[in-house]
Amino acid sequence: KSIVLAYSGGLDTSIILKWLQETYDCQVIAFAADLGQGEELEPVREKAIKTGASKVFIDDLREEFARDYVFPMFRANAIYESVYLLGTSIARPLIAKRQIEIALAENADAVAHGATGKGNDQVRFELAYQALAPQVRIIAPWRIWDLNSRESLIAYAQKHGIPVPVTKAKPYSSDRNLLHISFEGGILEDPWAEPPEDMYVLSVSPKDAPDQAEEITLDFEAGDAVAIDGQKLSPAAMLARLNELGGKHGVGRVDLVENRYVGMKSRGVYETPGGTILRQARLAMESLTLDREVLRLRDNLAPKYAEMVYYGYWFSPERALLQSLMDQAAAPVCGQVRLKLYKGNVTISGRRSPGSLYRPDFATFEADTVYNQADATGFIRLNGLRLRIRHALDQLAKK
Ligand code: ARG
Ligand code: SIN
Repeated sequence: KSIVLAYSGGLDTSIILKWLQETYDCQVIAFAADLGQGEELEPVREKAIKTGASKVFIDDLREEFARDYVFPMFRANAIYESVYLLGTSIARPLIAKRQIEIALAENADAVAHGATGKGNDQVRFELAYQALAPQVRIIAPWRIWDLNSRESLIAYAQKHGIPVPVTKAKPYSSDRNLLHISFEGGILEDPWAEPPEDMYVLSVSPKDAPDQAEEITLDFEAGDAVAIDGQKLSPAAMLARLNELGGKHGVGRVDLVENRYVGMKSRGVYETPGGTILRQARLAMESLTLDREVLRLRDNLAPKYAEMVYYGYWFSPERALLQSLMDQAAAPVCGQVRLKLYKGNVTISGRRSPGSLYRPDFATFEADTVYNQADATGFIRLNGLRLRIRHALDQLAKK
């Protein structure tokens, strides 16, 4: 019998590894994904073996993450509750997918994860497992065991020889990948308390950012950023480079109280430097290249798409349906955007596109060929019809 565990090498998933072995008397296969969390994963392999894993899989999924998850999501302009760029939400389905592949290849009986019973992540993992391989059993230790306090967890770890970090446990729960880093819990639970400056990892404070603005040019093809200053970059390299640039200029910090799928509100702080630049640049590229009504429709559907990602319905027919619409809408989004990074801001300084719908010769105040000003008289009169009728009826009623 065996279980494939999504393993990070941290205290919680190390305890889970041992607990699974003990509780189910089975082999545990540990799986860790490199999604750009900026951490050496070879020590994680050693740690898993030491903790008792029968086998360890460590996969570099950075390029797949950027290309097949983050970029498609950006084509949809997804943003949750107006500010959250979904950095954790979009990573879960990929971890789950790879975990299921391993479970099937290894003929495992179950998959397990370390998400708590109160959050979004459990839902995202498990909806993906079910969509991909419903026959594989799901084990969520946090919802089953009685290790419900920090003390009982540490006692369990000590009893089983799992090294407990001597440094004071990180005061926040955080999750990092190529798109973002998240912070929740600890002193952040007070929504009135400002996050301490030393919490931030990917960005400097805008006040410490360079006094000189930095200008870059982004190239877009079919809605995807493909080059910076003329240099072609793969999706993962693009995110990494934009994170450096944005981080240096204090771009992409947000702090919100968000609605979790399970029904509670939660305070979250995020750094998404590269994603923030990408979003601003895309909006500028779209302004030249998208038809008005396509843009309106897309803007109406984007919150719905974002909700699907946040709630964990990546592998669902409804997300696939919206994705094909979003991809089609993104197809004409090609060209270049020039922008400046300066003390937390992304300012667009120029945009151009071979497929631009903007025609100065149509918008001009000079004489032109496509527009007859006299046509506007009827356009406005008919649009005003119901307003004129309403006024007439009001006058009648007063008599
Ligand atoms: N609240 C964010 C979300 O639901 C971040 C979750 C972070 N998860 C974690 N295990 N630290 O997407
Ligand atoms: C967790 O509860 O495991 C992390 C937070 C979340 O999933 O929303």
